[in-house]
Amino acid sequence: MLAELSPKLSVEIQRAAKLLASPAPICVLTGAGISAESGIPTFRDKQTGLWQRYRAEDLATPTAFVRDPKLVWSWYQWRRQLVHDKAPNPAHYALAKWQQMSKANHQSVTLITQNVDDLHEQAGSTVTHLHGHLWRNRCHDCGTPFKNEAEVLVRDKNAIRFDDELITCQYCGGYIRPDIVWFGESLPSQAWQTAEDAAASCKVFISIGTSSLVYPAAGLAQLAKQNGAKIIEINPNPTPNTVVDITLAANAGIVMPLLIEQIDALS
Ligand code: OAD
Repeated sequence: MLAELSPKLSVEIQRAAKLLASPAPICVLTGAGISAESGIPTFRDKQTGLWQRYRAEDLATPTAFVRDPKLVWSWYQWRRQLVHDKAPNPAHYALAKWQQMSKANHQSVTLITQNVDDLHEQAGSTVTHLHGHLWRNRCHDCGTPFKNEAEVLVRDKNAIRFDDELITCQYCGGYIRPDIVWFGESLPSQAWQTAEDAAASCKVFISIGTSSLVYPAAGLAQLAKQNGAKIIEINPNPTPNTVVDITLAANAGIVMPLLIEQIDALS
């Protein structure tokens, strides 16, 4: 209920809903914060963020993998273990419902995520992943996709094993790695093209649960703004994003269902 929120937040949600209820194209970018209420740690939140406890340089770069593949593989197996039983929260479901509603209204809502979990898909959304997929693997040397039990996970979550033995590629003998974009690597070109096109052509850009620190994803809001879009940010904490028109400063799991309810009422 809007009435339970602070008057300021309630007014801002109504302002945002008015912008979003028009049939113009929308681009939504999500980050780790949208999965926080599902129990998946973010990267940079004080106390709980993964990069507060671990060094990205040791775990999320190609150099780190070449130096110590077992350490990196074990860390991702641990993250898979952490994530495998997590379920979408009200923010994921609200976005999926909105995508369904927008189809009926002939509105385009393009969802782009930096997250490597599959909670948007589990909630029923169509989503483009900019930073890869936690549940996919590929050869570090030749790039060939590697299918193991992780690929089956979506169908049978109990089937997965999380042992940290390294696996080698049957074609070239290289080590198998998670299909995730590490620091210093390029984003998948098709996913990036989808993101750039959606940001450049939208009338409203919504940034949800991202610190807006990691480029090129963080540049999408600026691209949208340069092309005349209004920018909405949903985040309980301030970010360095300077192009924001409307800030909804609360958890996505609270804001998103209310926002979609308002959009529905206005459409
Ligand atoms: P960060 O950890 O940098 O930022 C998470 C943001 O979510 C912060 O600004 C929090 O304030 C906000 N937040 C926390 N709880 C929230 C909630 N319940 N609702 C809404 N917002 C909330 O995560 P990202 O911005 O996603 O890259 O990080 C970008 C990339 O850096 C990640 O994709 C990852 C990381 O290194 C790779 O793994 C390649």
